[in-house]
Amino acid sequence: MTTEHQNNQLGLNQATAPEDTRADRSFDTIADHFEKKVYGGLKGEIRLAVLRRDIVEYSAQMSEALGRPLRILDVGAGLAQIAIELATQGHSVVINDISANMLEKAKANAEQIDQALDITWYVCPYQALEETLGKEENDKFDLILSHALLEWLAEPAAVMDFFDQYLTDDGALSLCFYNPASFDYRNLIMGNFNLLDNTDYKADNKKSLTPNHPVAKEEVESWLKAHDYQTVRSSGLRVFHDYAPLKRGGHNDPDAVIRMELRYSQLEPYKWLGRYLHILAKR
Ligand SMILES: C[S@@+](CC[C@H](N)C(=O)[O-])C[C@H]1O[C@@H](n2cnc3c(N)ncnc32)[C@H](O)[C@@H]1O
Repeated sequence: MTTEHQNNQLGLNQATAPEDTRADRSFDTIADHFEKKVYGGLKGEIRLAVLRRDIVEYSAQMSEALGRPLRILDVGAGLAQIAIELATQGHSVVINDISANMLEKAKANAEQIDQALDITWYVCPYQALEETLGKEENDKFDLILSHALLEWLAEPAAVMDFFDQYLTDDGALSLCFYNPASFDYRNLIMGNFNLLDNTDYKADNKKSLTPNHPVAKEEVESWLKAHDYQTVRSSGLRVFHDYAPLKRGGHNDPDAVIRMELRYSQLEPYKWLGRYLHILAKR
C-alpha cells in the first residue's frame, strides 16, 4: 500500500478534501442490502463461525469464573446474531445501533427464539448511550462487542474512551474491524491495478459495503496498547474465501470452506489477510 493511498484509506487527507465531511454511517437505508449481501450466504456463515468460536467459549469461562451470567453490550450491533446467541446462554445483553431498521431485524430474529431472553434494545448512536445506561460501577459490562463498527465512525479512536468508561476492570473487549490490507491484496489478485494506483479512490457509499475509512491493524493495536489492553486471541475472518476467483476442489463444499477458514483464521501469517480482523482483549 502506498503511503498516499494508506493515508487516503485512513482518512488522513481530510484537510485537502473538504467535500468529504465524515459522519457516522447509519445503515438504516441499506439494512435489507446488508442482510442479503453480508449474511445471505457463505461469507456471513464464515464470519459468524469465527466470531462464535472466539467469543462463546471464552464468555462461558468468564461467567463460570465470576459465578454469574455476564453483562454484555453490543454497540453498532446490526443484526446482533452473536449477542442474541449469548442471551440464549443466559447472559444479560444490551443491544445498540444507530439504525432502527437494523434493530427491527435483530428483534424479529430474537423473537423467533422460543426462550425468554434478557435483552434491552437501544436505538441511538453509541455516543448517546451514556444518557440511558447510568454511570455507576454496576452499570458497567463484563464484555463489550464492537463488530464492524470502527470503519463506519467519523472518529473511530473516540470509541476507545467509551470502552474504558463502560468495561469492568477485568472485562473483555471483542473488537472486529475491516482490514484495509485485504482491500489491496484482493485488488492485486483481481488485477485491479488502476484502482490501487488511484489515490482518490472512494467506494460509492450509497450502497457499497466497502468502508472508505478503515483503520489499519497497526493503528488499532496502538490504541489497545495505549488503553492498557492485552490481546487474549486474534483471528482473521475470511482469510482465503474472498480471494479465490476459481471455485474448484474444496471450494465447492461450504462445510469444508468453513472448517478451513476456522483453522487458518488462527494461523500466522494467513490470519492477517482476513477481510476482517478480530481481537479479543482484556485490560
Ligand atoms: C457493518 S454494520 C455491522 C453490524 C454488526 N455489528 C455486524 O458485525 O454484523 C455497522 C453498524 O454500525 C451502525 N452504526 C454506525 N454508526 C453508529 C454509531 N455511532 N452508534 C451505533 N451504531 C452505529 C450501523 O447502523 C450498522 O448497523
